Amino acid sequence: MSLKMRWSKTTVMLGGLAAWGFLLVSCITVDRTVVAPPKIAGAQYVGSKTCAQCHSDTVDHFAGATHSKFAFSDPKVGDTSCEACHGPGSAHVEAGGGAGSIINPRKSPETCFQCHLDKRGQFSLPHTHPVMSGKVTCVDCHDVHQGEAVRGGGASLANSTETCLKCHTQQAGPYVYEHGAIREEGCTACHNPHGTVNDKMLLARDANLCLRCHLSTMGAGVNIGGYRSGGAHGNAVGSRLSEGTCWSAACHEGVHGSNVNASLRP
Ligand code: HEC
Ligand code: HEC
Ligand code: HEC
Ligand code: HEC
Ligand code: HEC
Ligand code: HEC
Ligand code: HEC
Repeated sequence: MSLKMRWSKTTVMLGGLAAWGFLLVSCITVDRTVVAPPKIAGAQYVGSKTCAQCHSDTVDHFAGATHSKFAFSDPKVGDTSCEACHGPGSAHVEAGGGAGSIINPRKSPETCFQCHLDKRGQFSLPHTHPVMSGKVTCVDCHDVHQGEAVRGGGASLANSTETCLKCHTQQAGPYVYEHGAIREEGCTACHNPHGTVNDKMLLARDANLCLRCHLSTMGAGVNIGGYRSGGAHGNAVGSRLSEGTCWSAACHEGVHGSNVNASLRP
């Protein structure tokens, strides 16, 4: 097996054990590393042009996709962007297509981990989406065949939030009093959907989660439990904080929105 992949400024040569040697070195010297993709034994690269013969829709849509930008290619067959994820396709083509003759990465994140090594680590943290067990998949949240891989990336935040609300209907509201955090940054203002060390995949387990945006709310004042309090929010908040979080019982429990109270109380 020998395969040449190219993206941005990095050229990576792979081949049997040599790849692992390279891997150790490249972890330190380049941003990203590639390990050999899951593949059908004995299959060779055929190139994306061949895929287009039978999957013309997918190939057409792929032109604008995030993963089409990296120009994976093989010296003999040219562009191999499709096979970067699906593995060499010759066995599939010889079989006239069909299931079982080519990798379908739907259920296993291994295909993605070969290039996104850091994600394996994130999905091994104590609190994650159940991707390793196959209950949730990378493609539930990411488009691999067309458009931005991160849905709503850049252009439309609403899209990205909608991806979450598809499954988490409870957080959708509508609420009489919405939380500006969701309007401004979406769900990832407070959660990392890949995983964190904190319960509910929160970015922080304490008031820091909120203070990033609400520092001024706390005003200037005494420093209690590490948080500057007093001022607008009063010393009472400082003492409450030493017992719990901003979203503890009877405080701002309605972090996603509230129907009863503009201060997001339950
Ligand atoms: C000769 C026609 C043909 C060519 C060429 C072809 N395919 Fe397919 N492919 C098919 C057919 C037919 C199916 C089954 C269709 C279905 O189940 O919807 C299929 C299914 C697939 C599947 C799903 C397999 C599964 O187990 O679920 C993938 C992935 C796939 N093709 C990728 C590719 C890629 C990548 C290429 C180029 C390397 C390619 N195909 C080239 C005809 C072809
Ligand atoms: C970044 C990884 C990646 C790339 C690049 C990629 N695919 Fe896929 N492909 C996937 C994943 C993941 C699935 C399973 C998605 C699903 O079932 O929703 C899939 C499923 C498929 C399927 C079967 C399901 C379907 O949608 O019919 C076909 C056919 C397919 N891909 C063809 C292609 C072709 C052709 C290309 C190149 C234009 C390509 N793929 C590029 C990851 C990729
Ligand atoms: C062959 C290598 C390769 C494979 C396999 C691969 N990716 Fe990627 N992917 C990349 C590269 C390179 C980038 C661009 C990274 C960057 O800009 O930092 C990227 C970008 C992304 C991004 C967008 C990053 C951004 O900032 O917009 C997402 C999301 C993503 N990949 C998801 C996936 C998923 C899901 C799979 C598996 C179905 C997958 N990738 C498989 C190489 C790969
Ligand atoms: C529950 C939804 C969800 C799942 C499942 C998910 N992601 Fe993501 N991913 C996101 C969101 C949302 C972002 C954008 C994060 C941001 O903008 O802060 C993102 C960003 C990314 C990025 C670009 C930024 C970064 O963190 O490097 C990559 C690459 C990526 N995801 C890869 C993957 C891979 C690979 C998988 C599967 C192993 C996966 N994701 C599963 C929601 C998800
Ligand atoms: C495909 C469906 C799906 C999508 C899309 C999805 N999730 Fe999830 N989410 C789940 C499942 C399944 C669980 C695990 C529930 C469990 O373990 O009981 C979960 C768990 C969670 C939890 C922890 C819940 C708890 O009670 O511990 C949070 C927080 C979360 N998701 C946020 C998000 C965010 C933010 C997004 C969008 C970036 C998102 N989810 C997208 C299915 C999804
Ligand atoms: C301002 C921060 C913040 C934002 C933004 C946010 N969350 Fe949360 N989320 C939290 C906190 C804090 C908890 C933990 C609540 C608890 O433990 O009582 C939580 C809990 C959850 C849970 C677990 C069930 C529950 O309600 O306790 C899910 C699911 C969830 N969030 C999904 C989402 C989704 C989907 C979005 C985007 C629409 C989102 N969150 C936006 C802070 C936030
Ligand atoms: C991404 C930034 C961001 C984060 C993180 C954030 N918020 Fe907010 N929050 C806002 C915005 C924006 C508003 C609307 C402010 C306005 O309209 O004046 C708001 C409004 C509120 C309000 C309504 C009262 C007021 O001050 O207007 C409360 C209460 C609140 N947030 C609590 C929290 C709590 C508790 C957390 C942590 C779980 C949190 N926020 C995290 C951005 C954020």
